[in-house]
Amino acid sequence: MISEKEYNSKLAEARSYLIERVPSPPELGIILGSGLGAFADLVKDKVTISYKDIPHFPVSTVEGHAGKLVFGKVEDRSVVVMQGRFHYYEGYTMQEVTFPIRVMQVLGVNGLVVTNAAGGINPEFRPGDLILIKDHLNMMGENPLRGSNLSNLGPRFPDLSEGYNSEWRKKALAIVQEHEIHPHEGVYAAMSGPSYETPAEIRHLRVIGADMVGMSTVPEVIVANHGGMKVLGISCVTNMAAGILPQKLSHTEVMETAERVEKKFVNFVQGLMRVL
Ligand code: 6GU
Repeated sequence: MISEKEYNSKLAEARSYLIERVPSPPELGIILGSGLGAFADLVKDKVTISYKDIPHFPVSTVEGHAGKLVFGKVEDRSVVVMQGRFHYYEGYTMQEVTFPIRVMQVLGVNGLVVTNAAGGINPEFRPGDLILIKDHLNMMGENPLRGSNLSNLGPRFPDLSEGYNSEWRKKALAIVQEHEIHPHEGVYAAMSGPSYETPAEIRHLRVIGADMVGMSTVPEVIVANHGGMKVLGISCVTNMAAGILPQKLSHTEVMETAERVEKKFVNFVQGLMRVL
């Protein structure tokens, strides 16, 4: 685990690299999940920076994840979009997975919209549904804040009782209808992956209150909350989880559903930029 001093100096280097290249500092961060990359096409006055060029940024390995930060304006808001995220299952440490959130924080971002592809556990959900995340279960067996607290960035014991900001959830719910989205909210359980769950694990998750399951988002949301950001989370249910339907799971189905819903999802996130 790296020292507080070392981490802060890495962060400062990433920050100064970016600040020299972007026209206006971002206020909102957006993380695009699998197959949702098209949102980046909406960004005006765009400045695109590859992760590989940013000092100390990890580099993305998964197919379908472009690996760049896109700075610019959406609906006249200054945003930074992460096109491609780092997953714990790829072998990154929790500190690496959440480094981009810290970079956003030191650039002045105070709100974060996170999106992901998830398996549906709640039997009322259907593949293709967009669900607002109302809370999460951290089942990854790790916490990105473990180790000495970065006291310049947030408190030792951050409150997560509004990990997903209730005002923002209300504002999002107020516009779902015009986007032809069912007003569903759910609890997202994060697993370390990369294997999908067994049917027994899904029954367990259902009993403990999960509505959907995935392999991302929770580390970023914990760190964003630590850093004082408001968070809105949206899951795209790309498939039903193991044992919910009598069929096998496939990454192909995940990608196909994400692609099918992409336009709707992109329009919704654009709509959110007007109301959040
Ligand atoms: Cl069923 N499980 C997990 N962990 N992640 C997923 C998924 C299921 N479907 C999409 N992503």
